[in-house]
Amino acid sequence: MSPTFKPLKIGKIEIDFPVVLGALAGYSDLSYRLICRSFSAPYCTTEAMLDHQMLLENKLRRKLIKLDDADHPVAGQIMGNDPAVMAQAAAALREMGFDVIDLNFACPVSKVVSKKRGGFMMGQPDRALEIVRAVLRRIPDRPVTLKLRRALHESDETYEDFWKIARGAFDAGVAGICVHARSVDQKHGGRADWEFLSRVKSDFPDRTILGSGDVHTAADALRMIRQTGVDGVIAARGAIGNPWIFRQVRDIAAGREPCQPDIDEQRELIARHFQLACEIYGPRRGLKIMRNFGIHYSRMHPHPAKVRMACVNIKTENDWTALMTTYYADRDSGHHPYG
Ligand SMILES: Cc1cc2nc3c(=O)[nH]c(=O)nc-3n(C[C@H](O)[C@H](O)[C@H](O)COP(=O)(O)O)c2cc1C
Repeated sequence: MSPTFKPLKIGKIEIDFPVVLGALAGYSDLSYRLICRSFSAPYCTTEAMLDHQMLLENKLRRKLIKLDDADHPVAGQIMGNDPAVMAQAAAALREMGFDVIDLNFACPVSKVVSKKRGGFMMGQPDRALEIVRAVLRRIPDRPVTLKLRRALHESDETYEDFWKIARGAFDAGVAGICVHARSVDQKHGGRADWEFLSRVKSDFPDRTILGSGDVHTAADALRMIRQTGVDGVIAARGAIGNPWIFRQVRDIAAGREPCQPDIDEQRELIARHFQLACEIYGPRRGLKIMRNFGIHYSRMHPHPAKVRMACVNIKTENDWTALMTTYYADRDSGHHPYG
């Protein structure tokens, strides 16, 4: 590995490469985490889960909380606004086997923010820190990290609340923060402010800082580390449908040409993902998951628009099989109209 790209440390956990899979609602589920691991993703985070749901033994919790021996180290992400409930949820995740507990103070989705959760906390530093302290008291033996945005509003020029949360959290003992360099207002639009990441890292030179925002390719991930000095980077939208990104970052860091999957590799991977999703969630939900992912995998295909349209129209497993046969057929089968 090039000296610029050092392993990442979260508490006592050492992660051998500093580009990891971020939390992605609807995407960073166990099936996709295992797919990304097979391309050497060294660390993954679940999607954000509501704190109180972690305390109920029900179907939704069983669906969200799926772990596998091959899926470590892994962070479980929770969001909420009551320190006591967040602390209980963190303890529940520790019992289930999560290696790191990540607190989400970043989610910009209106129905989350209006319920005073997620990104809402970026404007409530005192409350946010109460939550942090309650969680740390409850699980002193497990690393706790935060997902933050650079500010709540676009107009927050001083970012005062950000610094208050970040400083208070490090003083309280969090193991690291991941900063999405957009404001909550920005949601996922506009540009991420990488300059802000540089400032965060220079303010906390000895702390673990992960950066997030506008990492579309493997080259972007490594550029963020070089340009801003952050200790690690999360691949988010850039990783949806491109698990190869985790191999590509290692290729580039080692001075090799980054691998580009051909149609045979794409077929093999998509088939494996389909099988995993069906094994983990059953055939109905597995098919739904793959329809969603298929749309993203289509970006790699020589005819993305056609594959995307075929994915959108999938209703049955037969539709799926027909799509695979039409667009991802094995060259050796002699049927390869689109490869
Ligand atoms: C579909 C989608 C779902 C997301 N879900 C979560 C989530 O559950 N928890 C979280 O902390 N961030 C979530 N994020 C934010 C990403 O982790 C990441 O910070 C953001 O997309 C910025 O990175 P990017 O511009 O490289 O995609 C989500 C983003 C997207 C696009």
